[in-house]
Amino acid sequence: MPRVLLATCAEMPAGDEDEHVAIAALRAAGVGAQPAVWDDPAVDWSGADLVIVRSTWDYTLRRAEFLAWARSVPRLANPAEVLAWNSDKTYLRQLADAGLPVAPTRWYEPGDDVQVPAGDVVVKPTVSAGAKDTQRHRDAAAARAHAAALLDTGRAVMVQPYLDAVDSAGETGLVWMADRFSHAFGKGALLAAGAGATDGLYAVEQIEARQPSRAERETAEHVLDALAALSPAGRGDLLYARVDLVPGPSGEPVLLELELTEPSLWFAADASAPARWVEAVQGWLARV
Ligand SMILES: Nc1ncnc2c1ncn2[C@@H]1O[C@H](COP(=O)(O)OP(=O)(O)O)[C@@H](O)[C@H]1O
Ligand SMILES: [Mg+2]
Repeated sequence: MPRVLLATCAEMPAGDEDEHVAIAALRAAGVGAQPAVWDDPAVDWSGADLVIVRSTWDYTLRRAEFLAWARSVPRLANPAEVLAWNSDKTYLRQLADAGLPVAPTRWYEPGDDVQVPAGDVVVKPTVSAGAKDTQRHRDAAAARAHAAALLDTGRAVMVQPYLDAVDSAGETGLVWMADRFSHAFGKGALLAAGAGATDGLYAVEQIEARQPSRAERETAEHVLDALAALSPAGRGDLLYARVDLVPGPSGEPVLLELELTEPSLWFAADASAPARWVEAVQGWLARV
């Protein structure tokens, strides 16, 4: 029986609700799937036929350690070099420079003088997950203070206008498994006006099943097609990929995040997604 480990974090050693579905579906298909905590020194990663990165959400303040772990795992999906490229949101800058529609962003490094655009803005660290340390600000001084606090701890920062169509339309996540489109989901706006930052490992999200629009599907395909030229791997090298889109300033879909590291796949949004997952993982097992 092939042995597959799904990497999670110490705060949720059995994985999250997605992993419960993913593991049950794999086991039913004869794959020995188990959760394992990425920084647990007792785990024998090289004994697994495949290791899949899943809910490893506590890496954001220990990214170097996380990437060193990823490079040490012999059969990892997604590949370590993809995680290195994708776990810092500066990849969005490359995609924007290549002409893809990316949420308008200003980029700051420690030592920079932060300028915020007029109106509501979002300040987030370039290395972040689960909306942790991400906040919406109405007040420019508060936005600059938030950015300065992050920069003072050595973190790079992004400042974006708050794309307020997300309040009504939400965000659309499109999920691919082994380069086959699986399903999409809708996610409610996370940054309510005046809300503080999340205290938990991640902000709790409202998810619903959603059919992507033609424009969303096309935009997501363009983003994935661009990977071959910009990232260390092409779309065919990815076991999983999620493209997160929100309506931009003129209503067209813009990229908020391309999640190739630790995306929730939201199996609950599509009853046939677990079967596609099993097929994708079995195909990957035959490849590695
Ligand atoms: N520019 C923005 N406009 C509106 N909402 C945003 C913006 N940036 C982030 N958000 C909200 O914050 C959430 C988290 O931001 P995101 O960039 O996806 O980072 P991560 O999911 O890695 O923490 C998004 O799902 C969205 O609800
Ligand atoms: Mg996100």
